Amino acid sequence: MLFPYYRPRRLRQNKEFRRMIRETALSTDDLIAPLFTISGKNVKNPIESMPGHYQLSVENLVQEAKKIYNLGIPAIVLFGIPEKKDPLGTQAYAKKGVVQKGINAIKSKVPGIIVITDVCLCQYTDHGHCGFVEGNTINNDATLDLLAKAALSHAEAGADMVAPSDMMDGRVLEIREALDENGFTNLPIMSYSAKYCSAFYGPFRHAADSAPKFGDRRTYQMDPANSLEAIREAAMDVEEGADIIMIKPALSYLDIISRLRDEIDLPLAAYNVSGEYAMVKAAAEKGWIDGKKVMMEMLVSIKRAGADMILTYFAMEAAMELKKG
Ligand code: PBG
Repeated sequence: MLFPYYRPRRLRQNKEFRRMIRETALSTDDLIAPLFTISGKNVKNPIESMPGHYQLSVENLVQEAKKIYNLGIPAIVLFGIPEKKDPLGTQAYAKKGVVQKGINAIKSKVPGIIVITDVCLCQYTDHGHCGFVEGNTINNDATLDLLAKAALSHAEAGADMVAPSDMMDGRVLEIREALDENGFTNLPIMSYSAKYCSAFYGPFRHAADSAPKFGDRRTYQMDPANSLEAIREAAMDVEEGADIIMIKPALSYLDIISRLRDEIDLPLAAYNVSGEYAMVKAAAEKGWIDGKKVMMEMLVSIKRAGADMILTYFAMEAAMELKKG
């Protein structure tokens, strides 16, 4: 394959050749759109650091889900911002909690769309941690029951899939058992398996008001320097009954996506997180980059690395770009 016998440019010379040899295709089928819901009537609070995203009360939430589904996007992932917080995050598993009501409304008005729910406590606890706080530590095993309760309450409200994002050890098993014991044997679990302790979650924590009030999440989320550990985390979740394995964030962790693609034979999801979105929006607003092109390049890179699906705040914009062709 040496020049002048081989010339890679031969197959790049026009659009059709390029189409024929393209190795990765991004599709609307791959996209999952995150939505934030809050209580109240007709609320649509813009999230400043995430242009185009809002905290939505239930009727606006349904409208947004409808738009997403009409664009051909198969799924949303739902986050709740509760009215009140307490040490045990009780609103996370309240029958009439903000997420539970949201799931119900979406499933009755837009029944086709897959509703995935984020299962965690940090938006619901007054200390802002993802688990049960004891002194200055997060008690792993005492958290498991609360997470299982939250997952079950989502299932009962009509969720199609639950996605635990807390990073407690053993939570997939606990959730699987709770779902099975209550007749939800068919409800899949998308596990945030390799979730790193990342500064890229900044804008999300404003959006969901979920920043920890003391310390940080380093005792439960993964160290960004580790890669073998991601394999152990994912393997554990597979054993515990996960149906889809997630890597989060996506862009600084493309090597982890690629590595898990080789190691794990379950579908892989990657979360293109809030900070990754905000950076593109901010630079595009300044005219420093072409936001749409950068968006498409990032999304295709996540697929090329090995993800089957992408949770992304760009979902609607990307679906519109894909429609244009
Ligand atoms: C809840 C949760 C977080 C995100 C998804 N689920 C925040 C966190 O762990 O601090 C981040 C999503 C994003 O930044 O887009 N635990």
